[in-house]
Amino acid sequence: MNEASLPNRLSENIPLTPGSAEAKRIRVPHDTVPALRSDHAGETGAVSIYRGILAVSRLEPVRAFACRHLETEQQHLRLMDEILTPTKRSKLLPAWRVAG
Ligand SMILES: [Fe+2]
Repeated sequence: MNEASLPNRLSENIPLTPGSAEAKRIRVPHDTVPALRSDHAGETGAVSIYRGILAVSRLEPVRAFACRHLETEQQHLRLMDEILTPTKRSKLLPAWRVAG
């Protein structure tokens, strides 16, 4: 089994799906960790934003919009969770969850 290279995947613009064998083979190069840490925090914040909208909005079009985007952002976050091990993630994730 070959290890997938993250930079190659990105440059080829090939989508990865969470849980896929390809995603599980990704090994993050050390110099890519800071950028992925920022991406992971952003996905965490996005999930919290859409959860927050669903917690307060009763407008059906807004809720439908938030549901669709929450599903997408949760998928992004699951993929980032697979790619970036917990020790490499931002220490500020709790703040991102609250701020979102
Ligand atoms: Fe996203």
